[in-house]
Amino acid sequence: MLSKQDNETLCRVGPGTTMGEFMREYWIPALQSSELPGPDSDPVRVRLLGENLIAFRDTSGTVGLVDNYCPHRRASLFFGRNEESGLRCVYHGWKFDVSGNCVDMPSEPAESNFKDKVKLTAYPCAERNGVIWTYMGPRTDLPPLPELEPNMRPDREYTITTVLRECNWMQALEGDIDTSHLGFLHLGSADPNALVPGTVDYYTVNVRHPRYNVKEMDYGVMYAAYRPAEEDSYYWRFAQYLLPFYTMIPTGRLGLQVRVRAWVPVDDEHTMFWALSAPTPGAPAIRRTDRNGRVLGGSAGQMEYQPNTNDWHGRWRLAANSTNDYKIDREAQSKNEIFTGITGIHLQDQAVTESMGAISDRTRERLGTSDSMIIKSRRRAINAARSLQEGVPAPGVDNPEVYQVRSGDVVMKREVDWLEGTADLRKAFVDHPELIPAATS
Ligand code: FES
Ligand SMILES: [Fe+2]
Repeated sequence: MLSKQDNETLCRVGPGTTMGEFMREYWIPALQSSELPGPDSDPVRVRLLGENLIAFRDTSGTVGLVDNYCPHRRASLFFGRNEESGLRCVYHGWKFDVSGNCVDMPSEPAESNFKDKVKLTAYPCAERNGVIWTYMGPRTDLPPLPELEPNMRPDREYTITTVLRECNWMQALEGDIDTSHLGFLHLGSADPNALVPGTVDYYTVNVRHPRYNVKEMDYGVMYAAYRPAEEDSYYWRFAQYLLPFYTMIPTGRLGLQVRVRAWVPVDDEHTMFWALSAPTPGAPAIRRTDRNGRVLGGSAGQMEYQPNTNDWHGRWRLAANSTNDYKIDREAQSKNEIFTGITGIHLQDQAVTESMGAISDRTRERLGTSDSMIIKSRRRAINAARSLQEGVPAPGVDNPEVYQVRSGDVVMKREVDWLEGTADLRKAFVDHPELIPAATS
């Protein structure tokens, strides 16, 4: 559990808050490049860290992310005309470029220099492989982008997924570093006898109470959960929490999986989930079926989205959500076809984390030994955010190479040291062709 004050520090992200100021030190994924499809395309409402912003792409293709409110009389720039390298407020025609400079003020006399004195808040943006990043912090000398491999492999087939989650960012993130729920929430109805020996699910379901090593790292916190695999080996799952809001979870082989997830605060009670993945060609897909071909966890199928709208919370919402109880199928649940009755891993996570309320009352939790990663990660975030207030730089901002890590699972002989034995496998941008199973002909 956390004290009320710690919980507030952790969850509040608006301007002037401890966590909000901390997050503003970092580059933040704001929206997908495809959401601004071309020069002078329609402006988009984006709420980030509790601020209402308007994103647009100017005539040259450069992205701007500016305050919603026109600095003249505060009309919304969402209604702006995106024309000839700037966004023109429709109320009195003031026009702003992507840097927030007022480039035209037709409502004032031609000889007036008032427009040179007016500035619209504009956050610098950078685009890299389909992600529009923004920097909302105090520096004028911008830090480098984080060196996250999954956003830096245009040489590979590459996917970006975004989903709105209706709860606080850390509450959502904690699901990723809560390894023990896998055997229940997602695999609770799996029959251990029907699982294929030697598979991830086999090890996970046969021992549902793994032991953990949790270690503070220069980028955040890492855990390695282990259970017996065979007589002389352990099955290990390595996962990362990277400051301020990233995770790398073990859904593939350590050394082959290239995947990162981000839990970007929209505001205190909403979070934009990001998944960036650039899988190694030939890497085996994780098995999610038993010997009888039964799909585990009801995990088949794509997530179904509602159409995006122009609401502040209108982007990337799922069709199954709290208003329809995530389309729970009680029959599938009672027949033990799907433990939760809710279809799909992402949706199962979404349901339980949103069900805690928008901001969980962490003063009332009862945490056990299986929660040690969550406890350490919260503490790391709170301490790092408070330290910034005392002048300690935010970890990773000026050394983006610390993000060059990976997560995944691995079976190792019991005598192998968990850190030494995986040092090379945890490094990003290193190829491991020896791990790719030979193609059977
Ligand atoms: S309110 Fe925008 S130009 Fe007047
Ligand atoms: Fe999960």
